[in-house]
Amino acid sequence: ADRYAVFGHPIGHSKSPRIHKLFAEQTGQNLVYTAQEVPADTFKAAADAFFAAGGKGLNCTVPLKELAWNYADSLSEAAAAAKAVNTLALAADGNILGDNTDGIGLLNDLTANLRIELPGAAILILGAGGACRGILAPLLKQKPASLVIANRTPARAQAIADDFKPLFPVEACGYEALPGRSFNLIINATAASLSDELPPLPAGLLAENGTCYDLAYANRPTAFVSWGLANGAAKSVDGLGMLVEQAAEAFYIWRGRRPATAPVIGLLDAERQ
Ligand code: ATR
Repeated sequence: ADRYAVFGHPIGHSKSPRIHKLFAEQTGQNLVYTAQEVPADTFKAAADAFFAAGGKGLNCTVPLKELAWNYADSLSEAAAAAKAVNTLALAADGNILGDNTDGIGLLNDLTANLRIELPGAAILILGAGGACRGILAPLLKQKPASLVIANRTPARAQAIADDFKPLFPVEACGYEALPGRSFNLIINATAASLSDELPPLPAGLLAENGTCYDLAYANRPTAFVSWGLANGAAKSVDGLGMLVEQAAEAFYIWRGRRPATAPVIGLLDAERQ
């Protein structure tokens, strides 16, 4: 069987082995996918060892996405724009290709699963770290009316806005600039969710019939998902759908087959209730 793995630190609660096992069963692919605890300082040695032993592909998660971006012999357009890689694939010529399926994973969940209308939407992203950078290009290609990045440290938001200027006039600001504005879609890309914290968000920030989307996922509603529900969101969801969709895109890169994602999302969602 062809071997795949996810590297990260911590990796203990990763749902990726389960997701890829379900994909493999569904599409009749003979593969093994494991999770491996890999701290940043051992990433290169671990990846070298994995491919030297015949491994075919890797997913890389926190805190390894930038290291994987450096490791790849060549980069997809998405990985180059994100300056981060979540999927490494061994090519026929022995080169390691770096891709980033996080952005397309989010886009597929928003459009195909949640039926959110992105063209013409006013979009707000909270947070200006790697998670924000990874999702920007595919969102901007949908031609929203506007896209604002708000961050605790406004200079980091401005740096991302400057990078994406050739593609779209992204606006950057601090949280204090948000009162009085409203958005159809608010995406939480801060690391605050993981510690159940929330950036300061004013009432009225979410437009009528708006959507809240937390890139993080958890067994219980995150602080941001709860904020959305309390602030009139038509939909307020966490990133479980994105997790499955980014995995499906990686599976497609490796195996050339597109698994059905809805039954896998449904199964994982049912298990956490
Ligand atoms: P990631 O790769 O997950 O995006 P990161 O690069 O460390 O991780 O970025 C974390 C993001 O969460 C940043 O936007 C950070 O804000 P700063 O740039 O000001 O540090 C944001 N963040 C983390 N904890 C936060 C909190 N308690 N409140 C608001 N924002 C927070």
